[in-house]
Amino acid sequence: MQIDVFTLFPHWFDWFRGQRHVANALALGSALECVDYRAHTPLSAGQVDDTPFGGGAGMVLRVDVVEAALRARYGEDPVALRERRRVIALTPGGRLLDDALVSELAAADELTLLCGRYEGFDERILDHFCSGQLSIGRYVISGGELAAMVVCDAVLRKLPGALGSNISATEESFSTALDGAPEYPHYTRPAAWRGWAVPEVLLSGHHARIREWRAQQSRARARQSGGASLP
Ligand SMILES: C[S@@+](CC[C@H](N)C(=O)[O-])C[C@H]1O[C@@H](n2cnc3c(N)ncnc32)[C@H](O)[C@@H]1O
Repeated sequence: MQIDVFTLFPHWFDWFRGQRHVANALALGSALECVDYRAHTPLSAGQVDDTPFGGGAGMVLRVDVVEAALRARYGEDPVALRERRRVIALTPGGRLLDDALVSELAAADELTLLCGRYEGFDERILDHFCSGQLSIGRYVISGGELAAMVVCDAVLRKLPGALGSNISATEESFSTALDGAPEYPHYTRPAAWRGWAVPEVLLSGHHARIREWRAQQSRARARQSGGASLP
């Protein structure tokens, strides 16, 4: 899979590329490359944003700057580009990222993520260059970079081999293997600690009963709508 991230902070992704499952995915042929808006801006002094028409706080990422960066990377009009490639802007109000969307993205060969900063994107970027908008949750963070990393992390760990040969991402919270429910509880040694015992069934060695217990636990968590609650 080839992922391009457009950002003002490409060096932030150096750390991310070193994370085990990301490094595994890259070693297996995927690519995660960053394009710096500032490196392609047609404006002087590295300008990439401007004040909003109509007034108000903050700076808005300019449409001409994003167009220049997309053209430099792909050598075509971004209006046409989005017809053949998923170009997704990270926005707080976009489609919420969930396991189904992660699987959908992981099945694609190519993906472009646009990170906003400051007040966000000039709306014409979203209207004319993007095939969609994606949100990592209904809250606001300061820029699209961490959101892009969340997306890339979730997508890359779905690729075969990314988690290492003996670990699979198929039976995890919200996966189809668990009918979209949260995962069941896990325990490890010691079997008893401060009087807190591990459920007997998990020590039984009876695989069919363990499978059934796990499925029940997972369903129960789904009924509680999402597992553990905050105090
Ligand atoms: C400070 S935010 C802009 C918020 C915008 N003014 C608003 O009220 O919706 C700057 C950038 O961070 C990114 N961002 C912030 N929160 C996000 C979220 N929940 N999901 C995805 N991207 C987010 C977007 O790229 C956004 O353009």
